[in-house]
Amino acid sequence: MQVFEALHGSSCPVAIVTGASSGIGRETALLLGRRGYCVGLLARRLERLEQVAEEVIAAGGAAAPLPTDVASRVQVNRAVEAIVRRWGRVDLLVNNAGFGVYGLVSECEPADFERQVQVNYLGAVYCTLAALPTMLQQESGCIINVSSISGKVPSPLSAGYCASKSALGAFSAALRMELRGRGVSVVTVCPGYSEGEFDEAMVKRRPLERRNLLRPVAAASVARTIVRAAERPRRELVTPSALRLLALGYHVMPGLIDWWQSKFRNGPGEARGDSDG
Ligand SMILES: NC(=O)c1ccc[n+]([C@@H]2O[C@H](COP(=O)([O-])OP(=O)(O)OC[C@H]3O[C@@H](n4cnc5c(N)ncnc54)[C@H](OP(=O)(O)O)[C@@H]3O)[C@@H](O)[C@H]2O)c1
Repeated sequence: MQVFEALHGSSCPVAIVTGASSGIGRETALLLGRRGYCVGLLARRLERLEQVAEEVIAAGGAAAPLPTDVASRVQVNRAVEAIVRRWGRVDLLVNNAGFGVYGLVSECEPADFERQVQVNYLGAVYCTLAALPTMLQQESGCIINVSSISGKVPSPLSAGYCASKSALGAFSAALRMELRGRGVSVVTVCPGYSEGEFDEAMVKRRPLERRNLLRPVAAASVARTIVRAAERPRRELVTPSALRLLALGYHVMPGLIDWWQSKFRNGPGEARGDSDG
């Protein structure tokens, strides 16, 4: 931290984590706290954020709980301004807030599609627009967009979710190219099915039936991938790494993966199946 102070004139690196009230976001905030970060915690549930803030402080960091709906540009701007006013910089933005809707396209409401785009995609865009000027002024920073394997390999019963995560992946890739040479890196992290409250929070248009290939990975393990990516930025990280094979398979033989997903993950005759989160 002394080296950081000497280089940047501020006592700790500053991170913003969205969706910090549970699961992957909470674990990421705790890990950043252990590394001495000042962490702005964004999500809607204030009591949860206050608990996480206490844990971040106990772990050795500083924390500011900022109740925010990332789908609101006004709320996002207010939260990011508060962080910059308080700590003077932004070194890391983790766009992690997200949720899913489970059901066939024909079972979902138009609002299901709209809300997934507003939270999963536009929420990340709003946070990026709010934090980027500070990063560009510093000529340093890292933006991590938490997409999903579903953003790379679409699956049945989660079309709106897959589309929102796919949009986030494309935004991330284009932004990375624009920022090359400006000191700000952009990383896309694509987790597979992970532990957390994702299934509870999911809007279910039919009873949830999980048929995942792999056991869920711990949210703490995804958080370690995120923090490693912040320390040594890469283009994209798929976790667990076994899912890279699925992504590669879809790239090379999309028709075969489509067939396999609709046959074994959708069920013959009737649509059954799941999403990898
Ligand atoms: N779990 C999986 O299997 C899995 C797999 C791949 C990718 N992912 C992605 O990983 C990210 C984290 O998911 P998770 O597994 O940790 O799920 P989670 O435990 O349900 O956490 C989701 C977080 O997002 C926040 N959130 C939801 N809507 C929000 C909104 N409108 N504004 C602000 N915050 C909002 C929630 O907080 P509040 O309710 O307090 O607002 C919560 O903190 C999501 O983007 C998800 O799509 C998850």
